[in-house]
Amino acid sequence: MITVQNYREVLRLLHPRPVVIVVTISSSGLVNGCTVSWITPVNIDPPTIAFSLSPKRYTYKLLRESNEATINIVGIEDLEKAHYVGTVSGRDVADKLVKAGFTLTSSVKVKPPTIKEALGVLECRVVGEIEFTDHNLIICEVIHARVREELFADGTWTEEARILLHVGGNKYTSTSKHVRAEGGD
Ligand SMILES: Cc1cc2nc3c(=O)[nH]c(=O)nc-3n(C[C@H](O)[C@H](O)[C@H](O)COP(=O)(O)O)c2cc1C
Repeated sequence: MITVQNYREVLRLLHPRPVVIVVTISSSGLVNGCTVSWITPVNIDPPTIAFSLSPKRYTYKLLRESNEATINIVGIEDLEKAHYVGTVSGRDVADKLVKAGFTLTSSVKVKPPTIKEALGVLECRVVGEIEFTDHNLIICEVIHARVREELFADGTWTEEARILLHVGGNKYTSTSKHVRAEGGD
């Protein structure tokens, strides 16, 4: 093994990670999206997730205004769109999600819309925040979840759900064949 010293590279040892688009809305109704891969489940009941967001993001400002977000899980087919959303700011580009080629549709329980092309979506309410030095951990309760019926069976994604995973920089990959452990469930 070799020693990894660069901080960014140290964290990349925990990639590939699922790519989601966090969609937020301002108090005046402006919609924005931010690509995020530092996201994790943290509690089962109530279902709670957390993601790491730099306070420099326009998304951070919008999140503070509405306290709600949709977490849109995207497939490898939307790689270019997700990369675009993650490389330009909504501060500079209005309607970034639509410009990226995504379609927006109403959510069930929260104000921020859902991305129609998403494979699944978690509708969330912010319940906590932990400050670090360059990113803050945003903790959210999932108040509604939807998934594409044909891509979810027996409580898991099917092999056909080719979830987009971020390797680092502009490198991405996706999931492949499922393999079962011999030890049973
Ligand atoms: C694949 C990918 C993953 C990213 N993950 C994160 C993340 O976990 N947290 C974060 O704050 N920014 C992340 N970013 C950067 C933001 O998506 C990017 O700064 C974006 O332009 C912010 O948009 P906004 O200013 O409109 O909110 C990621 C970017 C890419 C391309």
